[in-house]
Amino acid sequence: MSHEDFPTDSPAVVTCGLPYANGDLHIGHLRTYVGGDVYARSLRKLGQRTAFVSGSDMHGTPVAVNAEKEGLTPEEFALSYHETYEETFPQFNVEFDNYGHTHDETNTEVTTEIVRRLIDGGHVYEKEIKVAFDPVEEQPLPDRYVEGTCPYCGAHARGDECDEGCGRHLEPGEIEDPTSTLTGNPAEYRDREHKFFRVSEFQEYLQSFISRLEGTSNARNQPREWIEGELKDWCITRDLDWGIDYPEEGTDLVLYVWVDAPIEYVSSTKQYTERVGSDEYDWEEPWKVDGGIVHVIGRDIIQHHTVFWPAMLRGADYNEPRAVMASGFITLNGKGFSTSRDRAVWADEYLDEGFHPDLLRYYLATNGGFQQDVDFSWERFRERVNNELVGTVGNFLYRSLLFAYREFGGTPEADLSSEVRERIDDAIDDFREGVNDYSVRRVGDAAVRLAAFGNEYIQRNEPWKLADDDPQKAQVIRDCVQIAKAVGVLFEPIAPGKAERLWASLDEGTSIHDVELGAALEPPAREFAEPTELFEKVADERVEELNEKLQARIAESEADASDEDADDSATDEADTTADVDLEPLATERIGFDDFQELDIRVGRILAAEGIEGADKLARLEVDIGVEERQVVAGIKQLHDLDSLVGERVIILANLEKAELFGVESNGMLLAAGEEADLLTTLGDAVPGEKIR
Ligand code: 2FM
Ligand code: ZN
Repeated sequence: MSHEDFPTDSPAVVTCGLPYANGDLHIGHLRTYVGGDVYARSLRKLGQRTAFVSGSDMHGTPVAVNAEKEGLTPEEFALSYHETYEETFPQFNVEFDNYGHTHDETNTEVTTEIVRRLIDGGHVYEKEIKVAFDPVEEQPLPDRYVEGTCPYCGAHARGDECDEGCGRHLEPGEIEDPTSTLTGNPAEYRDREHKFFRVSEFQEYLQSFISRLEGTSNARNQPREWIEGELKDWCITRDLDWGIDYPEEGTDLVLYVWVDAPIEYVSSTKQYTERVGSDEYDWEEPWKVDGGIVHVIGRDIIQHHTVFWPAMLRGADYNEPRAVMASGFITLNGKGFSTSRDRAVWADEYLDEGFHPDLLRYYLATNGGFQQDVDFSWERFRERVNNELVGTVGNFLYRSLLFAYREFGGTPEADLSSEVRERIDDAIDDFREGVNDYSVRRVGDAAVRLAAFGNEYIQRNEPWKLADDDPQKAQVIRDCVQIAKAVGVLFEPIAPGKAERLWASLDEGTSIHDVELGAALEPPAREFAEPTELFEKVADERVEELNEKLQARIAESEADASDEDADDSATDEADTTADVDLEPLATERIGFDDFQELDIRVGRILAAEGIEGADKLARLEVDIGVEERQVVAGIKQLHDLDSLVGERVIILANLEKAELFGVESNGMLLAAGEEADLLTTLGDAVPGEKIR
């Protein structure tokens, strides 16, 4: 069963993974929140009724351990971070409709109600298990109070997750060679009664759920391995004082943090309804009746959102998620951020440097696909800001609006040309497809590509060369103002602050946050004031200075590093060198003219599917700017074809056509090595651009 495209009549709820209230936010965290905010705003642009919610994750050992280090109660400690997060998110224009926390009354009530439903439905049972104990302190060691070796991959692991190895959730008692993180004492396993949720009985359901699930391909594919294999029941209680009480008499257990954390998605939506009234948004519709639940998370918590959580929802008779969008990590020099070692670019630090939040939003939302890991660098940040925001978007807006203002005092009297109307319509379609493909990058690209078209359009028509009374002059400028207006509407989800400023300067009189895509084609205001430049270049010297600071910090954190507490679960691919037999270099040189004969273009994959009967071949539809091409490539077994859609690739466009397995190939996809590592561009070159 596939879902109806957005916008739908039933409401959507977009949620963002809850940050543990246990430390400062860095830009790695922000990737998910910016992604969620862009997605929620984009849905609204489509006219989709949407609530955007999240909250702080207050419970569990991630908070308890850090609170203990600070000598505070977990509640005091977590509340103070919760308050900080409430302030920080809006500073990045991440505007939740409701931002609650897991320790509040609503979440306690909703959690209790859901767990009771699970108990009443016969989905919970008691079992004696081994739990880690510190024999010296006579203290149970749940989750992060214990560390040791992952039984699945042998990596160092802490408590409930193999964060440095295979990424699996670990059940109590599973970790091998346990030691206490409190005292360093070897831990021992003792028998305790705990409550288990029968995830195993949802296996069949989860198999069908995963086939319906939408979102990024990592979230749709990764869980298959767990769901197809043996599904273990899930321990949902802990020996801890900090958490929501297990709702049955006669136990002193609290619920495992991963039970009440996702329930905060429901509670936070409920609080939103309590504030605005159920006529405006009724939380029960998406959660219990019909609606689109979209979870935006980091890629390390896919298992929780695609196995445990949908099983819980199903067991408690709630609706299932429609989509999960799992973001890649942000890395520094190819290694993960580390909060404890100050190996990070902090959210506060970014703002203190005086950069506008929308610049970072743009960088985070569009630098690579949402699910790819992205290595942060200030150079890259500068490049993207200077080339795309200043060079393409800002340049088009400023030059065309200034011209309009000086020559016409605003929008000239003329009808919109059909060429420009069609181009804006195409941009709207791109945007809409981006939303329905869960691609925040495509959403951002739609606006930037339209601005690039605007630059090309004004350049091609050279209105400055036309006489004042030439109707063509009014026509071109009328078109440009419309393009500017449309760029604003399409860019609002990515850069809400800047788009609002553009809107005000176009004297639109409303808030750009409240308008839908249709506004892109509504006539602009007749008069507007002199425009100002929307974006400023990041100076080279700034980058040098920021880079020095960052590299010094990385060097320091590496010097301090000990393998045990490394928080580098994100990719370290940058460090790996493959053992490859390299071919000798060609001895014969070719002239530049020979190279010029190759028409190599940037393309974007629109569709990819395996060719029936062929082991290795896939059929791709690729947008190469000037036209769409069908290309056959030997990548069927080497890539997840679904996840290639939307990716930027490089195509040799003037290769002779060929027919492979009865399918015409009109161009060649360029790739490196035996594994067909696909070539792409470092920047955001648009489809059709030539490789020189
Ligand atoms: O991994 C984490 O940071 C958790 N605090 C995420 C919780 S998301 C959810 F399910 F609530
Ligand atoms: Zn592991």
